[in-house]
Amino acid sequence: MNVLIVGGSGGIGLELANAMSARPDVDNVVATYRRQVPEHAATGIDWLQLDVTNQDQLAECWPAEKPLDYLIYAVGLLHDGNTGPEKTVRRIDPDLFSKSMQINALPVLLLAQSLHKSFKLSDSPKLAAVSARVGSIEENRSGGWYSYRCSKAALNMALKTLALEWRMAMPKGAVAALHPGTTDTALSRPFQANVPTEKLFTGAQTAAYLLTVIDQLTPDNSGRFWSWDGTELPW
Ligand SMILES: NC(=O)c1ccc[n+]([C@@H]2O[C@H](COP(=O)([O-])OP(=O)(O)OC[C@H]3O[C@@H](n4cnc5c(N)ncnc54)[C@H](OP(=O)(O)O)[C@@H]3O)[C@@H](O)[C@H]2O)c1
Repeated sequence: MNVLIVGGSGGIGLELANAMSARPDVDNVVATYRRQVPEHAATGIDWLQLDVTNQDQLAECWPAEKPLDYLIYAVGLLHDGNTGPEKTVRRIDPDLFSKSMQINALPVLLLAQSLHKSFKLSDSPKLAAVSARVGSIEENRSGGWYSYRCSKAALNMALKTLALEWRMAMPKGAVAALHPGTTDTALSRPFQANVPTEKLFTGAQTAAYLLTVIDQLTPDNSGRFWSWDGTELPW
């Protein structure tokens, strides 16, 4: 299998890349980083610098003639230095809102667009994006985190819509939105205080859970939102 992990420098993405590179059924793992190749990366991963807000870089991140079996999108923005997530509408920051859409939602569609030919060359292409439970509209009972929630809801809609298009255009393919569970990474670190220890996963734990879910994706269960434990989440 050929695997592309976009956001391989993140706490979850790195462990996804490490786990994939150790599998006997995987021939090639390409992982992307924005700032620097992470420490503790397994040997055997091919690293590529990529800023997902750069459309040219997205278009060039995978050769068109090479089959792509798994694309896992593990990039995410929740807070940006001193900004976000916003607890109240009085704190909405247009710049954070736009950036959240540009980083959390849009690149998945642009990747699906530019990698279409490579997915077509695979016997069972899978596109899975790490979303977040807070992007579920139905499950939103506490409010807040406007930009992040909106961008993850947009990501979920993008994935559902793509899954419907793939039914005809990519009948052997599967698309999924994934909730990773609270994982100890830079993104969640400021918000971990009230998380019980047993509910705070390491990146390696989360990667193993998510890969189990991704391995079980089929055209029949495409277009759904899965939690790390394989239960289905409402949109
Ligand atoms: N951790 C949790 O508890 C949790 C819970 C729910 C959902 N999630 C989701 O899980 C995914 C992974 O997050 P994480 O926890 O692993 O966070 P993380 O450690 O902060 O990783 C974030 C990743 O996004 C990349 N990134 C950000 N902006 C980018 C850009 N413009 N271009 C390219 N890459 C960019 C970062 O690259 P650089 O480091 O190279 O800049 C890094 O690889 C995200 O979608 C997040 O929303 C996480």
